[in-house]
Amino acid sequence: FELNSGSVSAKSPSNIALVKYWGKKKNQIPTNSSISYTLTNSFTETELKFSPKTTENFEVEVYLEGEFKESFAPKIITFFERITAYIPFLNHFKFEVHTHNSFPHSSGIASSASGMSAMALCLVQIENLLGANLSEENALKKASFLARLGSGSACRSVYKGLVEWGENDFISGSSDLYGTKYPDAEIDDIFKTFHDTILLIHEGQKSVSSTVGHNLMNGHPYAERRFVEANDNLKTLLPILKSGDIKAFGELVEHEALTLHAMMMMSNPAFILMKPNTVAALEKLWEFRRETGKHLYFTLDAGANVHLLYPEQDAKEIEVFIENELKQFCQNGNYIKDKVSF
Ligand code: PMV
Repeated sequence: FELNSGSVSAKSPSNIALVKYWGKKKNQIPTNSSISYTLTNSFTETELKFSPKTTENFEVEVYLEGEFKESFAPKIITFFERITAYIPFLNHFKFEVHTHNSFPHSSGIASSASGMSAMALCLVQIENLLGANLSEENALKKASFLARLGSGSACRSVYKGLVEWGENDFISGSSDLYGTKYPDAEIDDIFKTFHDTILLIHEGQKSVSSTVGHNLMNGHPYAERRFVEANDNLKTLLPILKSGDIKAFGELVEHEALTLHAMMMMSNPAFILMKPNTVAALEKLWEFRRETGKHLYFTLDAGANVHLLYPEQDAKEIEVFIENELKQFCQNGNYIKDKVSF
């Protein structure tokens, strides 16, 4: 390579799935299609420095929030091993990764999607610096492909808006290998105003890693049914997105979240990822919705935190309710106000 050192950087947001990815085949191929909202305020910023290397092995040093993290390098090296066939320069340079999350490490918000996406975006930039000449469209597609190999859901963080991942026969261009942006023109404007306020019910490490979680779907008695249902749910969601039917949207999204948790409760070994305050918050939310008719819905990740989804038109009243009634269920009263990004 003509260039022997340099530095690139990228910023990538986190995402929250509406139809969940849960279960994978080898090479990070998802067992069903999924779709997520890309967020705004929860993001990772990464600077990747490269310089001449000194040994034959992959050489990586990772700094999180300015602090050297010896234990993080093996994760990046595993990622490098997986993608080395697609990125020829990985074993040619020594790398320094300087990364920063906008959300606290202990918050229970996963940084793998935003982190792997930011890293992948850095790598394609280096590829272009070294002369690959990828168009913007191809660079993003490749970044999404690489991000998937770091953490499946990370492939959906490369684009704004709603991003779909997983090959199916009803979204043209859909692929198991990378995420694709679902066309903004197919989405009613109301869904572009959504807030995602994250109740931090339980800060700290998740009790089941997503690697363990996906593996629980192997041999799971309900797995095949779940994979069919997830694809059906995505297919059902598309006309809802077009029509602006918020109620149908909310019902489908809540069902998806509870199904994800139900799958874990029915797996062997079983996991209950909700905490008592998760359940308390959901009950309060349902009561509020029954009484006010406001469009407040939830989704869940593989953890105890609650993502509150609501459109801008109802935000004022809902945010008073969150402050007065839901905040009490958050650890130290902490929640994160985020929004979808379009
Ligand atoms: O990308 P992973 O392997 O961390 O899996 C993420 C799985 C869920 O967050 C639970 C669902 C999803 O589609 O993002």
